[in-house]
Amino acid sequence: DGKPTTATIHADKPGPVYDKRIFTQFAEHLGHGIYGGLWVGNDKSIPNTNGFRNDVVAALRNLSVPVIRWPGGCFADEYHWREGIGPRNKRPVKVNTNWGGVTEPNAVGTHEFYELLRQVGAEAYISGNVGNGTPQEMAEWVEYITAPAGSLAEERGRNGHKEPWALPSFGIGNELWGCGGNMRAEYAADVTKRYATFIKVPAGTKTVKIAAGANGGDYNWTEVLMREASKQLDALSLHYYTIPQGGWPPKADPVNFDETAWADTLAATWRMDELITGHSKVMDKYDPEKRVFLAVDEWGTWYAPDPGTNPGFLRQQNTLRDALVASINLDIFAKHADRVRMSAIAQMVNVLQAMILTDGKKMILTPTYHVFEMYKPWQDATVLPIDIASPWYSKDKFVMPAVSGSAVRGKDGKVHVGLSNLDPNQTNTVTVKLDGLSAGGVSGRILTAPAINSHNTFDAPETVKPAPFTGAQISGGTLSVTLPPKSVVVLDLQ
Ligand code: AHR
Repeated sequence: DGKPTTATIHADKPGPVYDKRIFTQFAEHLGHGIYGGLWVGNDKSIPNTNGFRNDVVAALRNLSVPVIRWPGGCFADEYHWREGIGPRNKRPVKVNTNWGGVTEPNAVGTHEFYELLRQVGAEAYISGNVGNGTPQEMAEWVEYITAPAGSLAEERGRNGHKEPWALPSFGIGNELWGCGGNMRAEYAADVTKRYATFIKVPAGTKTVKIAAGANGGDYNWTEVLMREASKQLDALSLHYYTIPQGGWPPKADPVNFDETAWADTLAATWRMDELITGHSKVMDKYDPEKRVFLAVDEWGTWYAPDPGTNPGFLRQQNTLRDALVASINLDIFAKHADRVRMSAIAQMVNVLQAMILTDGKKMILTPTYHVFEMYKPWQDATVLPIDIASPWYSKDKFVMPAVSGSAVRGKDGKVHVGLSNLDPNQTNTVTVKLDGLSAGGVSGRILTAPAINSHNTFDAPETVKPAPFTGAQISGGTLSVTLPPKSVVVLDLQ
């Protein structure tokens, strides 16, 4: 019964490291991404530590979030860091022109961001303002954060943090082809070089400089940036969102959808593989040693906003479909781990393909959260190449492999295998040959639910959650897995 798939895991030919920065999460000043979702300030009705809600921070800690990208997004190219330091009641209240035209209190600024990082246990990826800021403003922000001495360091001390912070990653603007300044690639390359020149950190420390990269299939952008600016850079970004039902502007319903929309969404997600292959090819031309990495620092589903919400807040429900989008992307990043050393899902809380949704005091974990939790052993693991000969899954004009997967040898020394069955109707029986690997046992967990649009709500928060999986056996160097329809399975081999 069901479809058969064959696969081989090449444990004898270990690949690159699956960089933990691939699990970076993006948190922008957008809707309730920061205010309400993470930061509640002095609101005593929601338990918090130094303004950050305890429930959300605990959930994020459980994911071992390695890096948080902040403050945008489009927000970054209009953000002036000085407005977010000093006494909170003296900070200017601005208008968030990108996202809903609401007021931005500047209550969360540099010091609060580093407090969030401390609580979550994550590292900083800060995007600077190229759009309407100067190279001097950007350079001074970097100095304020990182310098051990000097008047900016002293000002930082007066504001409560004497010691310099670490700044492992810095973005030179965001989407310079769009909200970051509507630049041509040639102009953006020059501007990027100019700003990058002045990002200087103290001796003995390192900040990875990430240029604002291409939108989807704009290979010319990557070509020009690599040709003109790669020597000044450590990474180039790529933004690609899964936008079903005709693309931009997003109009698909996050919850009320049929199988055609399911297939459309998953097929659009597979396009990530083609895009990374294409951009990598261009990068290989200028950087065959793969020194400059590709940071897919915005990805995820983008649907129409939930009914009754501010359309500028990009608030959307998250269903089992989003879980599959997450696992497919995480598998694709494994295949390209030689070039992709960072990615950031958009976004962390309450925005787009969120991990966590909040409503006042209430919080739920989304299906996407559970995939990130199940894939934790991938962080800094070694990729084990996997060949998958999968039958097709198709619905209407949407055709794709029915099974997605990846395998790693974790830092715990164990082999972990992720397999997703995209077909919502048919079981898939996967027979995996284990080359260079002797394993005697297997255990695992599964994420599935009754319907393609099953999701968690504040009233029913555990409709979609991982459960023990018993559909896998190992014998004679072969792993056999019976994947139920519409499921994500993660296996640990012993
Ligand atoms: O994630 C939402 C927005 O999408 C970001 O601000 C921007 O970079 C992208 O267009």
